[in-house]
Amino acid sequence: MKIAILPGDGIGTEIMAEAVKVLNVLDLTFETETALVGGAAYEAHGHPLPESTLNLAKSADAILFGAVGDWKYDKLERQYRPEQAILGLRKHLGLFANFRPAICYEQLTHASSLKPELVAGLDILIIRELTGDIYFGQPRGRRTAVDGHFPGAEEAFDTMRYSRPEIERIAHVAFQAARKRNKKVTSVDKANVLETFQFWKDVVIEVHAQYPDVALDHMYVDNAAMQLVKAPKAFDVVVTGNMFGDILSDEAAMLTGSIGMLPSASLDKSNKGLYEPSHGSAPDIAGKGIANPLATILSAAMMLRFSLNQPQAADRIESAVKAVLSAGLRTGDIWSEGTQRVGTREMGDAVVAAITGKTITTKS
Ligand code: IPM
Ligand code: MG
Repeated sequence: MKIAILPGDGIGTEIMAEAVKVLNVLDLTFETETALVGGAAYEAHGHPLPESTLNLAKSADAILFGAVGDWKYDKLERQYRPEQAILGLRKHLGLFANFRPAICYEQLTHASSLKPELVAGLDILIIRELTGDIYFGQPRGRRTAVDGHFPGAEEAFDTMRYSRPEIERIAHVAFQAARKRNKKVTSVDKANVLETFQFWKDVVIEVHAQYPDVALDHMYVDNAAMQLVKAPKAFDVVVTGNMFGDILSDEAAMLTGSIGMLPSASLDKSNKGLYEPSHGSAPDIAGKGIANPLATILSAAMMLRFSLNQPQAADRIESAVKAVLSAGLRTGDIWSEGTQRVGTREMGDAVVAAITGKTITTKS
């Protein structure tokens, strides 16, 4: 097994160090190779996704990714911005299926901004299509308008589009995932306004015919945004396009108390995948040793389960994370009165201790 380690920018390097530490105590045989990506790669090689990094990602069995981005690159031409690294990896590796679970850990019920009873026991899964939609649709660009409200004015445009096979394959992923859960899929669209999403809805309904054991309902994206904060536990699997999924998955993440807790997986058609925390590079706290490494550690668990066929090792990581939370350890983002505030490295050490059967010590 070869794992490509791409720490990236900002807190990426700090949280990745903890995830690698955890992987190393699991008694598994694997090889890792680390490469620069994002702003760090731009500084060193003049490109956020250098050929060498892309080739490593292609040759590895799985990719563990930290985070990319920093405000200081916002003025660069788009192709050189750090975000292009993750978008390029998704596109070149065909990572069309993005799994973003939102699980509210029992110990963190009170860290949510919603009332505890609304989020206690929350366990929903957002499946976001990741290589299509307005993110990648061509044509796009700037030009002089020939029609519209201001002919002759400068304008910018993007293209929202989905083909039948793109919708079919993500619908299959969602129905199959639901079969392993509570057998309910909510397809989120904007069929009342957009042609692309009327088509999305029609195709999802057609694919559903092959899954009579799974319940399907449909929701407009604006209503879905509202229902997520009104009654989030009513969802099981949510399937949606790239743009709506980007927005709704941040919203869902926050229900759980902190985006610092949530892993994600982006898979291709044969379950090869890239695993990354759902949060970004947080340049404001980079280098301070206070970032929460748990989302990256849990991403490593997802990697072991989905791509490397090591479900027991994944279970060990997930149980260890629950154990450190039960022991009262908290990074700043999930800290509350009565718990012990720890830094990035101490949190990683505590997970390692829980895996290796050592006791987790808390100063009180
Ligand atoms: C995400 C991020 C990315 C996206 C950015 C960094 C390009 O927000 O993974 O959700 O928009 O997909
Ligand atoms: Mg996002």
